[in-house]
Amino acid sequence: MRKPFSASIIILLFPFFIYAQSIVGKGKAVDPYHYTIQKDKTFSKGAVACAHPIASKVGAAILKKGGNAIDAAIATQLALAVVYPGAGNIGGGGFMVGRLKDGKTFSLDYRETAPAKASRDMYLDDKGNAQSNLSQYGHLASGVPGTISGLFAGMKYAKLPFKTLIQPAIDLAEKGFTLTKAEAAKFNNAQNDFKKYNTVVPVFIKEGGWKEGDTVVQKDLATTLKRIRDKGAAGFYEGETAKLIAAEMQRGKGLITVDDLKNYQTKERKPIEFDYKGYTIVSMPPPSSGGVLLWQMLKMVEKRPLASYGFETVKSVQLMTEAERRAYADRAEHLGDPDFWKVPLKEITSDTYLTKRMADYDSTKAGNSSGIKAGVVESTETTHISIIDQWGNMASVTTTLNGNFGSKTVVGGAGFFLNNEMDDFSSKPGVPNMYGAVGGEANAIAPGKRMLSSMAPTIVLKNSKPFMVVGTPGGTTIPTSVFQTIVDIIDFKMEPADAVDKPKFHHQWLPDELVVEKGFPENIIDELKKMGYTIKGYNVPGYEVVIGRVELIKVTDGKLEASADIRGDDTVAGF
Ligand code: DON
Repeated sequence: MRKPFSASIIILLFPFFIYAQSIVGKGKAVDPYHYTIQKDKTFSKGAVACAHPIASKVGAAILKKGGNAIDAAIATQLALAVVYPGAGNIGGGGFMVGRLKDGKTFSLDYRETAPAKASRDMYLDDKGNAQSNLSQYGHLASGVPGTISGLFAGMKYAKLPFKTLIQPAIDLAEKGFTLTKAEAAKFNNAQNDFKKYNTVVPVFIKEGGWKEGDTVVQKDLATTLKRIRDKGAAGFYEGETAKLIAAEMQRGKGLITVDDLKNYQTKERKPIEFDYKGYTIVSMPPPSSGGVLLWQMLKMVEKRPLASYGFETVKSVQLMTEAERRAYADRAEHLGDPDFWKVPLKEITSDTYLTKRMADYDSTKAGNSSGIKAGVVESTETTHISIIDQWGNMASVTTTLNGNFGSKTVVGGAGFFLNNEMDDFSSKPGVPNMYGAVGGEANAIAPGKRMLSSMAPTIVLKNSKPFMVVGTPGGTTIPTSVFQTIVDIIDFKMEPADAVDKPKFHHQWLPDELVVEKGFPENIIDELKKMGYTIKGYNVPGYEVVIGRVELIKVTDGKLEASADIRGDDTVAGF
C-alpha cells in the first residue's frame, strides 16, 4: 500500500478573484484557486489521471458533462498547456492511443517534424562535432509543433464541440490559476534560461521569484487559444499565430516557416498490438520506439517464471534488465520515422527473433554492451494522461516539449513555449542525445521527418475488455517504466498504487549501466554488483534519479482504480 506520507496533500490557497463560466471558476467543477492533490481513488463511471490537479479536474468535468474519453483527453491536454507549461503544450507534439467502446483501436501521431530547412548535419560544427546546446536550447532546437493538429484529428472520435473542450483552457489562461509549490520551483529554476532564450520577455519571468499560491495569468496564450477556438487548426497553423511563430524564428535564427506550419499533418497509424499472457497490449508504433520496445521486453520475459521470482528480487530485476538491454540495442539501430526509414518491425518483434535474442542470457552474470559510454540525464518533463469513460472508451496520451519548458523559448505575442524535440534526432551517429540515447541512419535528421520517440501511451485489454490505461514521461526510461508497471500488475499482482510508486530501474544498452531509483533495496544492489553490473543513480545525494511519473487506471470488478504518481503533483479525478 501507499506509504503514509503519500496521502493526499491538501493545498490551501486563498481566492484571488472570482469569475464564473461553465467549468472553471470559483464554486464550479474546477476551482483554479483551491484544489487538492488526490493520489488514488476508485471511481464508478469515469476517471482521469494526469500530472496536474486542475487539468485532471477539467478532464473529469468534461466526462461528467457527457463527454467521452477522447473529449476529456483533448480538454485535459489543453488545460495542461496552461497550468503545466513545462510539458503540457501547444508548441510541442505527442501521441494518442485510443480504444473505442466498439472495440476499434487507433493511434494518432502528432509528433513534431524537422522543418524544411533542416539538414542532416545541422548541429555539427566545422570539425564535425555535435553541438548539443543548439539541439537542446533556443530557436534552432524546435521541430514543427503537432499538438493542435493532433487534437483536431482526435475530434472525429469525440462527442462534444471543440469550443467546449478548449474553453476551460482559455479561462485558465485569461483569469489565471494558482501555482503549486513544485510548479513555482520549476519556474524559478528556469529563470536564467527564460532570460537567455527569449526575444520578448515572457510572463514566466518574475523578478524576486515565484512562490506557492501566486496567480499566473497568460493573456497572450488566451488570445492564441481563442484564435484556435474560432478558426480551428488554422487558428494555429495559419494566420496570426503562424506569423508570430515565423517572426519569432526569424528573430532567433530558427528554421520554422509559415509553410512548415501550413504543411504539418497528423498521421493516424495502426497501433502496435500483441498478446502478453492472455492480455492484449495496445501501444504506440514508430515514430515512437515505445510500443516496439514494450513488445520486445515483455516477450523476452514472457516464457520465464517471473511471478515465482517475485517483485524486487535479484532474479526478476536481473532478467528484466537483460531484456531492457537487448531491446534498447535494437532501438538505436533499427528505429526511426517509418515514412523515411524501413523499420523491420516484423523481424524484430517475431517470437523466433526474440527467443534468439535471449539465447545468450545468463542468470548468474551481467550481460555486456560494448561501445561508447554516455551519461543518462533524467528529467520529468513530458506528461501523460490516462482516461476511461463510463462507456468503456479509453484514451492514453503522452505529450511533450521534450526538455523542461522545451527550447525555453516562448513565441513572442503568442504566449507558449516551443519544443526542443530536434534533440531526439541522432545529430551524429553514436553521439548521445540528452537522454543518453544513441542512434544512426534510421534516426538521422531530414526535412519533414519525425524524430524517434520513446513515448509509450498504452492500453491493456483482458478478454477484449478494458483492463488498464497506462503511460509516463521520462525520456528513454518511458518504455522500461511502462514495462515494469505492466509486469508489476500482471505478474506480481501488485496494487496499482504500488506498481506506480515503488522504485524503478532502467537499462538502455548504452551506457552499460543499471540506473536505480532512490529507495531501491540495497541488498539487491549489492548482489547485482557482484554479478558485474555497474549501478548508478541511487546514492549521490541531490542527484538521485527519478524514473517515470506513471498515470494508471485499472478496471477491477467493474470499478475504475485510478492512481497518480507520487513523484509529482499528479492527481486523479473522476466520478
Ligand atoms: O519523445 C521522447 O521520447 C522524448 N522527447 C520524451 C521526453 C521526456 O519524456 C522528458 N521527460 N522526462
